[in-house]
Amino acid sequence: MLKGKNIVLGVTGGIAAYKAVDVVSRLRKRHANVDVIMTKSASEFVTPLTFRSLSQNYVTVDMFEEPKTWDIEHISLAQKADVFLVAPATANIIGKVANGIADDMLSTTIMATRAKVVFAPAMNTNMYTNPIVQENIKKLKSLGHQFIKPGSGRLACGDYGEGKMAEPVDIVEYVTGLLINKDLEGKKVVVTAGPTIEPIDPVRYITNYSSGKMGYSLAVEAKARGANVVLISGPTNLEPPTGIEVIRVKTTEEMLKEVSNHFDSCDGLIKAAAPLDYRPEKVSDTKIKKNDGNLELSFIRNPDISQEISKRKEKQIMVGFAAETDNLVENAKKKIEKKKFDFIVLNDVSNRDAGFMSDTNIITIIDSNENLVEYPKMSKAEVSKVIIDKLVDMLK
Ligand SMILES: Cc1cc2nc3c(=O)[nH]c(=O)nc-3n(C[C@H](O)[C@H](O)[C@H](O)COP(=O)(O)O)c2cc1C
Repeated sequence: MLKGKNIVLGVTGGIAAYKAVDVVSRLRKRHANVDVIMTKSASEFVTPLTFRSLSQNYVTVDMFEEPKTWDIEHISLAQKADVFLVAPATANIIGKVANGIADDMLSTTIMATRAKVVFAPAMNTNMYTNPIVQENIKKLKSLGHQFIKPGSGRLACGDYGEGKMAEPVDIVEYVTGLLINKDLEGKKVVVTAGPTIEPIDPVRYITNYSSGKMGYSLAVEAKARGANVVLISGPTNLEPPTGIEVIRVKTTEEMLKEVSNHFDSCDGLIKAAAPLDYRPEKVSDTKIKKNDGNLELSFIRNPDISQEISKRKEKQIMVGFAAETDNLVENAKKKIEKKKFDFIVLNDVSNRDAGFMSDTNIITIIDSNENLVEYPKMSKAEVSKVIIDKLVDMLK
């Protein structure tokens, strides 16, 4: 999602410096490049090694140490930054920047940057509410700098009140919001993800290998681009993405019911789930006892969610997935016709780098005008970007 974006993170000397570690980790998961500058005080709380390991970039603390590259580091980092984040931001750094002081690597680089500077203050509540700190914040805001408001609660020093640094997940959302085009603002996107399961008896069920990763990744991308996202998910081991309404279902019929509830009001439906096509004809109320012979089960057809829903299709853009192992293109074209998909994402699940359990995917997109584009192997986050770009195009 943030591939190609450069974030310079300034870490200053407060207890919340340990939370900056999580900020780096989350930004890296979104594929951002992160360069960390620490103040000397910050390095008393967390070591540069931690940030270096997570960011996989050299961490700068001392302005006058022998540079690791030929260029003048504070200038090159200042120019490189797409966003300059200071988290945690002490009263001291806020005061220094507000008053034009550039006496260490961090304050000097902030002085030299033209990127958006975002502060996530963290300090004792008396410090935060101190009129001098508030004046400095006001001045910086008037100059175009941004602040992520600290929360209230029990502070590390034991006091209660305002001054607790915003949570890393919210900081990362904020920064992502500054870097990503909100081209789905005002749109509702429904994403289905994962497998479904169909019970056989109280202790057994059938399912498939779908991990849900593709659908979850699409939901995150759509949300970051401003959409109101509803994620309808079969059972998965994935963490629910922040800020996204997740509706959990088990069976294909339950998934159909939820998609149906949300379809009329949505602008886009992305069907990344792999619902089971068949379910056992009879679900036993009691555990089926094992005996020496074979067990035979009879399966009946589940409703086809896309086909059912497509009967009500109006303005919605419908995106399908085809996880095929043979006759890929031919089968995809048939699906487009039968289920009124606007485009279909085709992946060859027989390839180890594509499909169900994998973190990468190799896709071909075919649209209803028979345009066919093949893509190289990409991460599921990169694939999500490509799919959401196409959805945005079609919504125009
Ligand atoms: C244990 C401890 C915790 C501190 N926590 C904070 C804090 O949360 N916020 C803050 O503004 N200053 C805090 N300070 C004070 C700063 O470390 C001090 O103002 C320092 O000069 C900040 O330097 P820097 O802004 O260059 O990192 C703390 C100091 C100590 C010893």
